[in-house]
Amino acid sequence: MLTSIKTNSLTNEGQKLGMMYFRVAIVLFGAQLLMGLIAAIQFIVPGFLFEVFDFSVARMVHINALVVWMLYAMIGSVYLMLTDETEHNIVAIGLGKLAFWVLTAAVAIVVLVYIFIQVGSGSESTIWFINEGREYLEAPRWADIGIVVVVLIFYWNVFATYMKGKKTGIMTVMVANLMALAGLYLAGMFFTDNISMDQYWWWWVIHLWVEATWEVFVGTLAAYALIKIIDAKREIVEMWLWIEVLMLFGSGILGLGHHYFWIGTPEYWWEIGALFSALEPVPLIAMFVHVLYDWGKEQGINGTKPAIKNGPAMAWLVTNAFGNFLGAGIWGFFHTLPQVNIYTHGSQFTAAHGHLAFFGAYATILIGMMYYGIQRSYGVERMKATFKSKMAIFLITFGVLGMAVALTIAGYEQVLVERAELGATWNAFFTAQNLPWYIQAQIWRTIMGVVTFVGFIYLVWDLVTIGKEAQKEEA
Ligand code: HEM
Ligand code: HEM
Ligand SMILES: [Fe+2]
Repeated sequence: MLTSIKTNSLTNEGQKLGMMYFRVAIVLFGAQLLMGLIAAIQFIVPGFLFEVFDFSVARMVHINALVVWMLYAMIGSVYLMLTDETEHNIVAIGLGKLAFWVLTAAVAIVVLVYIFIQVGSGSESTIWFINEGREYLEAPRWADIGIVVVVLIFYWNVFATYMKGKKTGIMTVMVANLMALAGLYLAGMFFTDNISMDQYWWWWVIHLWVEATWEVFVGTLAAYALIKIIDAKREIVEMWLWIEVLMLFGSGILGLGHHYFWIGTPEYWWEIGALFSALEPVPLIAMFVHVLYDWGKEQGINGTKPAIKNGPAMAWLVTNAFGNFLGAGIWGFFHTLPQVNIYTHGSQFTAAHGHLAFFGAYATILIGMMYYGIQRSYGVERMKATFKSKMAIFLITFGVLGMAVALTIAGYEQVLVERAELGATWNAFFTAQNLPWYIQAQIWRTIMGVVTFVGFIYLVWDLVTIGKEAQKEEA
């Protein structure tokens, strides 16, 4: 049973635990950006920190920190909404807290090993203790197993609380989807000597995450947040959520074929990948329309704008709808057909899409959830955007968009010169990298990276002050 039902504050220990996850997430986000900046400088000045802090390490920490901070913020968001939705206290909160500390200690150790011990030959024991060697999921196997245990504890809390409490559509989707999300992680834990087979399974993790299970996950977050922030009608957001589940699992799963074009899998993947991945933007468009539609509809019914209870969270939510559509839908579609991908594969174009999609589809909404968590922590009815909130969202979004445009130009140059004109040889790769368009683009990416980082500083500053300010205003 629920101990308290005051809805605009933190009502239970689970939500406090959620806030702890958010705190670690934001620290890792900062670390991610710093690593990105180092790697970006190394593109322009290749000798920068050579043999002290190599590109391979900076890049690895950059993208692993990305995945881990997002997982933290996702777990935080679930703990934030679990009791609200189920109207039941979390079943094993003590165990949940223990899992948080174990996970955080493990992440700290893994990061230290990433930074200090990455040079040397690979063997069976380095897979266990140093690095598993899979892009985005480089954590050594001991940590992999630890992560599985911690996630099982988290999942038990979600599942058992759900079973005992109220079963809303949002939570039903969440519970089913989290099972798929966690299960997919196992696909990245095998190791096969055959590199094609290894890659085949590896894609299941990150790409069945980002194109299927994570998309459904943020759908549930958006549904919950819209109800809380602008009083959206539950039936409407849940109806769209079910439609998205259907479409995303349909297009997302076979759409994975766009990663099977050139890794040694049979050629029928060309047709399967082309067709289904080309359909992937459809649910993304639906999701985009969904948010704007709900928004407009509320306005129509009341004749006035619905009261926005949390300005910054709503701003990040709307940015999510645009960003998901642009980064995953448009930038994804650009290079998804095999006829195009044969020229763009693994170029800076891919990096442009990777940045815009991860940022647009996930970073945005997770930051929105952090703002919502802060509102609850301070128990305020309304939380308006401050100057800092506006600077944060503007600089971060402008910075990431700027980076993506710069990388798109670099990728365009690679496609034309390295691939089309010079035939994609090893020499062509270096020729293309030394031409002015490429170098200028890399410089612009770094400048835009700095803009992003300044925005991040505003974000942290805002997150630690906005709650108090809102409380003062309300008093
Ligand atoms: C939010 C969802 C998405 C995220 C976060 C995302 C992220 C990424 C990332 C990081 C990569 C690079 C992988 C690597 O390091 O090799 C990638 C590759 C790719 N993505 Fe996405 N993606 C998303 C959705 C989509 C969609 C909807 C499409 C198609 C319409 C798409 C098409 C592709 C293709 C074709 C590649 C391979 C690029 C290559 O051959 O180099 N992505 N994606
Ligand atoms: C300070 C801002 C940032 C800078 C300077 C930066 C820089 C970089 C660099 C240099 C790489 C390596 C690219 C390569 O190997 O060619 C990279 C990869 C990547 N970054 Fe960032 N980054 C920044 C922020 C972000 C953000 C905010 C996200 C997502 C939320 C992100 C997601 C990624 C991803 C997914 C990759 C792998 C891309 C791929 O393999 O295609 N980065 N970044
Ligand atoms: Fe993909």
